[in-house]
Amino acid sequence: MDQRTLEVYERTAPERCALYRSAEPRRLRALALAFFHPGQPTADIGSGSGRDLVWLARHGFPAVGYDASEAMRREAALAYPGLDVRPSALPGLAGIADASFVNLLCSAVLMHLPRAQLAAAVANLARVLRPGGRLVLSFRGTKDGGEREPDGRLFTPIRPDRLASTLGVAGLRVLLREPYDGALRPDLRWTAVVVEKPSAGAPRVPGLPAR
Ligand SMILES: C[S@@+](CC[C@H](N)C(=O)[O-])C[C@H]1O[C@@H](n2cnc3c(N)ncnc32)[C@H](O)[C@@H]1O
Repeated sequence: MDQRTLEVYERTAPERCALYRSAEPRRLRALALAFFHPGQPTADIGSGSGRDLVWLARHGFPAVGYDASEAMRREAALAYPGLDVRPSALPGLAGIADASFVNLLCSAVLMHLPRAQLAAAVANLARVLRPGGRLVLSFRGTKDGGEREPDGRLFTPIRPDRLASTLGVAGLRVLLREPYDGALRPDLRWTAVVVEKPSAGAPRVPGLPAR
């Protein structure tokens, strides 16, 4: 975990949550609908404003959120009473048992980790996923090629091909990898990756959703 990044979220949680609630991550939602297993235990790692937890529950994915920031968890619970949001952080995902979830969302979090923690983060995402389960992952490129934005948050540049290798080393099979435009700032490039933790009886890969 990057302490400076966490401090920014702690300090700015109300404004950030309001901003994130105003966005609709259409592409990620299409991917969740296409690849997640309905009715199965689901987690949103780095759940932020809680926006996606509400959407997941409404669409048949019973979801629990995890976030490193106490202030973000508090804001999410205020905005959406009854939301289940718990403390845990990448890379370790302490407190989450092995094979707990069939569906995992990790949207806009990975680039906040120092490069040296990326492999451990991916290994722990794989650890908490059940065989046959799927992970929808997204991360954004940096604004000017720099690693830290003026507000202090870390944006580690992640090469999608390198990440695909790291996911493979963790035993995850890449089902889809694609660039997409962000909901809040169309000038920033995002990458979405969908992976599966293989199992003998894993369901067939569904067709890709149209953009
Ligand atoms: C850019 S926001 C994304 C929130 C949400 N997933 C979304 O797509 O709107 C990043 C979130 O990740 C959390 N976060 C940052 N570093 C983290 C880490 N190492 N482990 C878990 N959560 C982290 C922050 O507190 C914040 O809520």
